[in-house]
Amino acid sequence: MTNHKIIVSLADRSYPVIVGSGVSDQLQDLLPKTAKRVAIVTQENIPLKLDLEIENTTITIGNGEQHKNLQTIQLISEKFAKFGLTRSDVVIGVGGGMVTDVAGFAAASWHRGTAVIHLPTTLVGMVDAAIGGKTGVNLEQGKNLVGAFWQPTAVICDVDSLKTLPERETRCGLGEVAKYHFLTGDDLLALEMTQRIARCVQIKAEIVSADEREQGGRAVLNYGHTLAHALERSSSFALAHGEAVAIGMIFAAHLAHSMKRIDDHRLAYHYKVIRDIYRLGVEVPKTIKRTDLISFMRLDKKAINGLTFVLDGNNSIEVVSGVDEKYIDQAFDAMQVL
Ligand code: GLY
Repeated sequence: MTNHKIIVSLADRSYPVIVGSGVSDQLQDLLPKTAKRVAIVTQENIPLKLDLEIENTTITIGNGEQHKNLQTIQLISEKFAKFGLTRSDVVIGVGGGMVTDVAGFAAASWHRGTAVIHLPTTLVGMVDAAIGGKTGVNLEQGKNLVGAFWQPTAVICDVDSLKTLPERETRCGLGEVAKYHFLTGDDLLALEMTQRIARCVQIKAEIVSADEREQGGRAVLNYGHTLAHALERSSSFALAHGEAVAIGMIFAAHLAHSMKRIDDHRLAYHYKVIRDIYRLGVEVPKTIKRTDLISFMRLDKKAINGLTFVLDGNNSIEVVSGVDEKYIDQAFDAMQVL
């Protein structure tokens, strides 16, 4: 099967994303030439073991979003110090999006910036989290509120690690793939898995290359994410990211519909793609209250000028700030959120 190499083009910080079967064996060649040591950040039961010809240590962090916090960054940093990791060495993140977000932020902070390579092992990680340099951790108040832009020096998506991916994790990944469907109109499900991942990476690479720091176009990658982050947080992470993104895109469609940005047909199309084609859940769990969701959405990083969403409309998908709460209520009413 063909391997794919996609470049995230960022001048002297450009880097390759390799996608294919068995491509983790390319890691040794992609290590920075200056590196004398490698610190691997991973979790228990990650189905990808590395065999490196360089001094290395493995730092195992806890499973679950509750470990995506500043305490974990402290724990990792103390292990870096004990190992003697220097600024010319390299950190390697091996795992899902939580691991690569945390490993990336630890690398960004270590000695004010140490190289990082990501080997995502989940579909969400491969098509989204490990690409584009967003790193960070959560606070009690919300998701990813502390972090840094820190581009990796390479990303290696070895599709062999998806062979044992639990079905729920695959569904979560499809939430992000469906997002790319709305951004491009591509029929991504028609592609075989390796090609599908490579195409998603290519879409994201182009968006990130054009707007690395999210001063404009990159914000479209947050389609469905304003409500999604609030859903994850208010369900205490019982809802996983991709599941929440799917519901978040349905909410964004209702909101755009309430604001007369899209018509009935386009709203129905969201249900068709997300529920009928991608077979993802579209309802907010009954235990979650709209007042909690609104409070969390006010803490979203995009909410600089009032409640802010990425919304569909005649001018394509774009950021809309200062959204009146009456439209949010109408969207929640339509989705029967209490
Ligand atoms: N996951 C959204 C972004 O990378 O911009």
